[in-house]
Amino acid sequence: MNIEIIGYGLAQAEKCVTNLDLSKSVDTNDAWIQERTGIKQRYFSVAKNTSDLASEAALMAIQDAQIDPKTIDLILVATITPDGMMPSVASLVQAKCGLNAQTCLSYDINAACTGFVVAMQNAQAMLEAGYVSNALVIGAETLSKILDFKDRTTSVLFGDGAGAIIMRRSSSKKMFHYLRSEGDLTGVLTSDGLSLNPEMVFDQSSTHYLRMQGQAVFRFAVKAIEDVLVNLLNKQDLKVDQIDWIVPHQANRRIIEYVANKMNIELTKFYLNLDQYGNTSSASIPIALSEMRTKGLLKEGMRVICVGFGAGLTWGGSYFES
Ligand code: UT7
Repeated sequence: MNIEIIGYGLAQAEKCVTNLDLSKSVDTNDAWIQERTGIKQRYFSVAKNTSDLASEAALMAIQDAQIDPKTIDLILVATITPDGMMPSVASLVQAKCGLNAQTCLSYDINAACTGFVVAMQNAQAMLEAGYVSNALVIGAETLSKILDFKDRTTSVLFGDGAGAIIMRRSSSKKMFHYLRSEGDLTGVLTSDGLSLNPEMVFDQSSTHYLRMQGQAVFRFAVKAIEDVLVNLLNKQDLKVDQIDWIVPHQANRRIIEYVANKMNIELTKFYLNLDQYGNTSSASIPIALSEMRTKGLLKEGMRVICVGFGAGLTWGGSYFES
């Protein structure tokens, strides 16, 4: 069955923080961050939690799709930084956006930076099975909550934000996915949860800071992107020249340059906005898509491949026709 995206939205966090701003509190500098990553600035949330950013992006996508909000019967939020353990961010979005149709189902997905494409695949499966008619699919993060601002190797890389799309069945537009994961216990990319509490006492010692072995993730990322592109193209017997846009998870410009060079793909085929947002994990792909929509870069019938990769380890991609 065919699937189309009919609406796009995004939400920026309130506070724009430049590399220079960060260098006042962390031992870093603008030149290092730009040369090693391509990031110039990022947005950090001051008062908006993940569900607030997600709701803002959702309302923009609903308006863009020009559909009756009551017809949304599935809300999926990809996130690793929910407002709390429960309820899900998706349930909070449902309440905050007034999407309380009796038939609506909402839940979160955690597949780290691959989360958004996993959510797209889940939505497609629900649409194809006939369980739902209009799926609101969101990637939303407030990563500043889990950044250790004493750690220059991670705190300069990430940002907050949200992006959203609306998906429904289509008569002609194709969508398909390729998703993989490989369980990792070596701590390549982690953020701890709450500690076990065998003595049943109050204990605040648990740390949730994001920790990353940057070079190991870099090596994994370049292999993962190539694996996704090769498999998605082979699945439909497509050549990369037939793809109009590749929208990668926005982690590091050098990762994309490496892949483009290795696979002999023009760098201009990759949509990059990490200079403005940094790495927003689950939110990076839908923010990029919404920005492209607003700029008129997603023209009717264009072929697009999104690629995610991150903690888990997880990686995967989605092909769709705009
Ligand atoms: O969304 C999940 C996916 N995440 C990713 O894809 C991230 C993948 N990894 C990367 O993007 C890169 O590995 C990083 C950007 C994280 C790091 O770049 P790198 O070229 O691998 O740098 P490095 O870790 O080898 O560090 C080089 C030097 C070190 O100093 P010494 O040991 O050579 O003296 C670091 O201490 O740069 C130093 N360094 C910094 N210097 C200034 C590390 N962070 C900073 C910093 N500012 N922020």
